[in-house]
Amino acid sequence: KEHLLPIEKSRLGVIGGSGFYSMDQIEYLRELEINTPYGKPSDSIKVYNLGNLEIAFIPRHGRKHSLNPSEIPYKANIWALRSIGVRWIIAPSAVGSLQEQIRPLDIVVPDQFIDRTKNRPATFFNEGAVAHVTMGDPFCTNLSRILSEIGEKNIPGGRQLHRGGTYLAMEGPAFSTRAESNLYRSWGCSIIGMTNHTEARLAKEAEIAYSSLSMVTDYDCWHQTHQEVSVEMVLDNLRSNTEVANKIIFEVAKLIEKERPKSKSHFSLKDGLITQKENIP
Ligand code: ADE
Repeated sequence: KEHLLPIEKSRLGVIGGSGFYSMDQIEYLRELEINTPYGKPSDSIKVYNLGNLEIAFIPRHGRKHSLNPSEIPYKANIWALRSIGVRWIIAPSAVGSLQEQIRPLDIVVPDQFIDRTKNRPATFFNEGAVAHVTMGDPFCTNLSRILSEIGEKNIPGGRQLHRGGTYLAMEGPAFSTRAESNLYRSWGCSIIGMTNHTEARLAKEAEIAYSSLSMVTDYDCWHQTHQEVSVEMVLDNLRSNTEVANKIIFEVAKLIEKERPKSKSHFSLKDGLITQKENIP
């Protein structure tokens, strides 16, 4: 029943994307193997400690990067985090840019999605319960504001943090065709990735505040003068961004640790409301 922990004791979750496999500056406590009604999560959960706040980290693709975006056990991951009292999730993730001014190595804290995935779990509520979660604001606006403020202070010179933007969620694992990439640009999308929408939707149902720290690695394939996205390009740019993401998450964790006893409503989930929640642990 750890999910019933009061806010003072609940945990911060981090779902690490490609290239983000541990949280180095923070004191490591232990590893948790969790089984869920939806099977095993992507990996065991590593727990770190910062003052009075525990941070639960899970690598979304598994620690050996063995799960492609369609194979990730999204429900098990969100369930497992929720079952150990996680109330906030920060998701550092690699994305491509669909806009000239959003450059590789920039960071985006998106505020909207367009979902083009095809084969993802849509809901926890498909076994005898009906619920419609609101998705007008698919990310937690409170947590995203905190991430943006701290991100702006910690991003190295020459790189920019963009507040807001539409994340196009695609199925993958192949990258987009040029026609698709241009279509998404014509829709006004800012960035493109393969995982965050599925997580955000399930996190909302689980009443966990979810925000993305989207790290731009490439210009996808639409740009006339930049090289088309490749796995090498994504990995190279990610390496240089992981340290920045780690630092931002560290500072956000410090802020949550310090402020939450004083200001409970500030750190509570604002935008998720469900009609029935008996199915959630
Ligand atoms: N992740 C990183 N770059 C990407 C791209 N161009 N498309 C989809 N996912 C990505």
